[in-house]
Amino acid sequence: MRSIPVPLEANAYDIVVGSHILSKLGAKLKNLKIGKDAVIITNPAIRKYHGKALISGLKKSGFSVKILEVPAGERSKSAKVAFRLIEQIARYDELKKVFIIAFGGGVVGDLAGYVAAAYKRGIPYVQVPTTLLAQVDSAIGGKVAVDLAFGKNLIGAFYQPRLVWSDVSLLSTLTGRQVRNGLAEVVKYGVIRDAKFFKYVNKNCKKLLALDPKSLVHVVEHSSRIKRDVVVADERETRGIRTVLNFGHTIGHAIETAGKYNQYHHGEAVALGMRVAAHISYQKKMCRLTDVAVLDDMLSSLALPQRISNVKVSDILRIMKHDKKFLSGCNRFVLMSGIGKVKVLENISLAVIEKAIKAYQ
Ligand SMILES: NC(=O)c1ccc[n+]([C@@H]2O[C@H](COP(=O)([O-])OP(=O)(O)OC[C@H]3O[C@@H](n4cnc5c(N)ncnc54)[C@H](O)[C@@H]3O)[C@@H](O)[C@H]2O)c1
Ligand SMILES: [Zn+2]
Repeated sequence: MRSIPVPLEANAYDIVVGSHILSKLGAKLKNLKIGKDAVIITNPAIRKYHGKALISGLKKSGFSVKILEVPAGERSKSAKVAFRLIEQIARYDELKKVFIIAFGGGVVGDLAGYVAAAYKRGIPYVQVPTTLLAQVDSAIGGKVAVDLAFGKNLIGAFYQPRLVWSDVSLLSTLTGRQVRNGLAEVVKYGVIRDAKFFKYVNKNCKKLLALDPKSLVHVVEHSSRIKRDVVVADERETRGIRTVLNFGHTIGHAIETAGKYNQYHHGEAVALGMRVAAHISYQKKMCRLTDVAVLDDMLSSLALPQRISNVKVSDILRIMKHDKKFLSGCNRFVLMSGIGKVKVLENISLAVIEKAIKAYQ
């Protein structure tokens, strides 16, 4: 079990990473003194696979437990579901001092975090992420949100959890596609901050895809450290430092949207976005063609998409052009200067972007 401190001035907490550590969560929560009554927000599938282990551990440590389920899928990240949960918690909370446990992937984490931030102007919450994407990314950093019909994450807050508890044994029930989805974000961390870590992932692709616990603990721990460093340097995204986490995301989001969110999962679209961003970096003479090839090969070894298919280049460009930042004429891209280092560049011409996208058609 590894503990990674997140030393935020007013909101310090730990990220704990390990394998088969769910039973130890109760003891840690006792030390945190955040209340005796746990409200677990989860979905039926996650509860079915892993609910018993979580609940029995908490009860053994003397916590009372209430479970609130939401349907699986992004549609649960809505104001309607959030307010329904808040009402359920308020009714239950009358004689109690509750805290929330977000037990799920990024959807549950963002939703439960938002509920915790809004109810009574903020009650304590804990992230117990159950997807690889959530363990390496969404559970860390305190961005919580629900969606509106015309845009993702439009109602939200910065609200830090009191603990992140990442148990890689929970990942055993994920589909291969969900695992690869999270691995795309892992690759991103290597590219933006750490060539040595990139090499480790490259060497251990097969083990990671086979969910080898030791390799998983290593990548979740290391990714968490990199995200922690960025978040600590720029907690509320006011210093421009958090921008580096968007490597591959400008194009990735446009691909996701052009595919109407059903062609590509987020990580798959980001993988394509990273390929395109690397190609733009090469065109701007920031890196060598061999760097682009190394990234391409690595993403292919992880069986992440190699080509942008079923999505029109014209749609991707149209979506990017409609982006407010593009209209004002100063688009910003996180580009790589070799593996392990990135720089933000502004005003990339559409011709350069189009050429890079077409290289992966
Ligand atoms: N807050 C942030 O900083 C941040 C960062 C990145 C992404 N996000 C958000 O995260 C969300 C995507 O998260 P996600 O990729 O984890 O998707 P998700 O939460 O929808 O989970 C994917 C699927 O896996 C299932 N699942 C979860 N854990 C499982 C397990 N252990 N075994 C079997 N099935 C399991 C879920 O039921 C779901 O069907 C998006 O809403 C995105 O906006 C937030
Ligand atoms: Zn992402």
